[in-house]
Amino acid sequence: MAKKPFLSDVQAIRKRAREHLDQGAITAGYKADRETVLRVLNEALATEIVCVLRYKRHYYMASGIHAQSVAAEFLAHANEEQAHADQIAQRIVQLGGAPNLSPEGLTSRSHSEYVEGETLVEMLEENLVAERIAIDTYRDIIHYLGNDDPTTRRMIEEILAMEEEHADDIKTLLERVGSKA
Ligand SMILES: [Fe+2]
Ligand SMILES: [Fe+2]
Repeated sequence: MAKKPFLSDVQAIRKRAREHLDQGAITAGYKADRETVLRVLNEALATEIVCVLRYKRHYYMASGIHAQSVAAEFLAHANEEQAHADQIAQRIVQLGGAPNLSPEGLTSRSHSEYVEGETLVEMLEENLVAERIAIDTYRDIIHYLGNDDPTTRRMIEEILAMEEEHADDIKTLLERVGSKA
């Protein structure tokens, strides 16, 4: 197998690094379409915020025989979605953008929906739907980014792994609660 050459022109990299210092972490080597990445990240941010709000609502509204453990799970998820929102907002700023935290248009920027649900089972189902929406959205983002922005891609990959855990948690709870409801 032929060896792959490593082609980095150190002189050129040094020269380029001195230009556009105002762009901070964004160097000439940044390959992604920044405007699109920022839009996509702001949609992910809205998705996470809607998930925080829905899980919080469900946390406070969960009642019934199995409610305690389910409510605790809703709260844990709400806090983790908030952490995702914070990570995404931070990355948006790093990329020279501004996190859109405006309540106006939040639900249309978000891919997941805010559905209240009446019963514990309905709440669990809505959360599972939302997690599955997040999973597919994040998989698409990872695919879109490819090797053009590895830092953003890695962040989204980590968040995706957590959404898959969330979906699995909810599925387990749904099986337990659903069978006894
Ligand atoms: Fe999340
Ligand atoms: Fe989640």
